[in-house]
Amino acid sequence: MSTYANIDAFITKHLVLDLTADFDSRTLLGTAELMFERRDPGATEVVLDTRDLQVRKAEASSGGASWVDAAFRLDPATAAFGSALRVTVPRDADRLRITYASSPAAKGLQWLTPPQTSGKKLPFLFSQAQAIQARSFIPIQDTPAVRMTYDATIRVPKELVAVMAAEAAPGEKGSGVFHFRMPQPIPSYLIAIAIGDLTFQPMSDRTGVWAEPAAIAAAAKEFEDTEQMIKTTEALYGPYRWGRYDLLVLPPSFPFGGMENPRVTFATPTVIVGDKSLVALVAHELAHSWSGNLVTNATWQDFWLNEGFTTYLERRIVEAVYGKRLSDMERIIGLRDLAQARADLTVAGDRTLQPTLGDRDPDDAYSVVPYELGALFLSFLEDKFGRDTFDRFLRRWFDEHAFQSVTTAQFLEFLSKHLLSTRPGEVTEAQIQEWLHTESIPSFAVMPKSDALEKVEQARDAWLMSGSVEALALASAAWSTQEWVHFIDALPRKLDADRLSALDRRFKLTDSPNSEIAHVWFRLAIANRYTPAFPAMERYMIRIGRRKLIVPLYRDLALTADGKAMAKRIYAKAREGYHPVAQSTVDDLLN
Ligand code: BES
Ligand code: ZN
Repeated sequence: MSTYANIDAFITKHLVLDLTADFDSRTLLGTAELMFERRDPGATEVVLDTRDLQVRKAEASSGGASWVDAAFRLDPATAAFGSALRVTVPRDADRLRITYASSPAAKGLQWLTPPQTSGKKLPFLFSQAQAIQARSFIPIQDTPAVRMTYDATIRVPKELVAVMAAEAAPGEKGSGVFHFRMPQPIPSYLIAIAIGDLTFQPMSDRTGVWAEPAAIAAAAKEFEDTEQMIKTTEALYGPYRWGRYDLLVLPPSFPFGGMENPRVTFATPTVIVGDKSLVALVAHELAHSWSGNLVTNATWQDFWLNEGFTTYLERRIVEAVYGKRLSDMERIIGLRDLAQARADLTVAGDRTLQPTLGDRDPDDAYSVVPYELGALFLSFLEDKFGRDTFDRFLRRWFDEHAFQSVTTAQFLEFLSKHLLSTRPGEVTEAQIQEWLHTESIPSFAVMPKSDALEKVEQARDAWLMSGSVEALALASAAWSTQEWVHFIDALPRKLDADRLSALDRRFKLTDSPNSEIAHVWFRLAIANRYTPAFPAMERYMIRIGRRKLIVPLYRDLALTADGKAMAKRIYAKAREGYHPVAQSTVDDLLN
């Protein structure tokens, strides 16, 4: 189950962190105090998850007044799960304090040098705990089945600011000491920290952005509809239960698009393109405040309960705030991503809603399948029972499981009791089973349709026939990111070089500042060996560390011998700027 923790004997209820960020040694060091509820009164060994931690001391206490040294040992590490920390505690112990340091290579942390930031003067650190990387910076029961509250003291160089995905105690800038409190019980993968030259700009009473000074204004503008998204989601699925909702914009090496850390979504700067066309990312991470953070997958095999639900919610939010035209485009692009993922995956079970993890790192089974197949499943239910009924059903699911970790079996039981049974025969058990186990898309799925993207396909056909870039310029005058992405992706993989360069000259695709458009263009360029795009592509692959944008480029390049040589050459320069999880993905791909 991705964890070594003995949660049948002890459950963490509260965590107290006191950590110092040492940028010279690239370590987080200090103490983690874990307060337990005992499930087994006789148990005398607490097993925690760790990865590459240097454990210096373990102490146990009952009540916290006096502490005794506790014997401990670290099991040999496994590549997938790290190393179990076994601490022997007295029978009456209800808490444990571990003194430790993280490794400079901690998989859940990225230490950036000043040149890797936008300010270029100060270093930066951020964490990314999902799925099982919290253990690389905190000795912890690293499973989403366990929820805990926490308090944290974070000590940093005086010129830096620390932000955690938690409530902050005010008024500390310049002190080098920051205090945080997370009063709602959360799973370990939602613990998050960022340290850097961070400033804050409010957007509404409860929303705002954190970013480096150079990035803050554009970020606040791009994300200004966030408050409206929250109100929309509350109207559909019940109150936002986390107090504030802020966004923290990271340097471009952030390996994901976004991460739903509670109260403070962490986001890639690559969605800030000036026209709000990529803010579905905010809708997505915000939606996790219901599907994921409030009602959490109990195991990583139930990941679709987080991501499938969130993808469905994301599109409902986009539809309500920006209109059905955009949400339908997103649904179609999602389908295309699903088809691509299914083709790329090598383990058959990973093409289903619930990949079998066994003793694999959940990260190795990661794909968009649980996202898109899960969202299609929910759209199917919506279609069968009607939107109003389905909305009420979902809201009830969130309300009745708030702050709980849940399994697929629990969802299925709830589904049959509160939805399926209201109209027997509407959906059959066989259909449900097919959704759960199919490696393709069920024939009875309700497929999205986008008139806007059909028009794009017509424009593509016209251009392929006539070759007229001016006619295409007219047709595409009002295209958004999604339409350009669809157009480029829908082009044949073999095109004449002069065709490509005419397109490039007219629409400046090689130099597109839009990371999504540039991404699909570079894929087309690789397929055609359109070399004029390669220098810009190389700069892109060095500057950006977002896995979704770079990994397909490496994969495409690796299909031919000279492409692979080029990929290796680029990677030799890019690797040190990538986050450890991006490094390990590209390492695997090129070796
Ligand atoms: N929770 C995920 C990111 C994640 C998943 C990190 C699994 C580590 C392990 C987040 O909500 C997400 O799905 N982000 C997407 C963007 C979204 C708009 C589909 C991403 O980063 O690409
Ligand atoms: Zn997500």
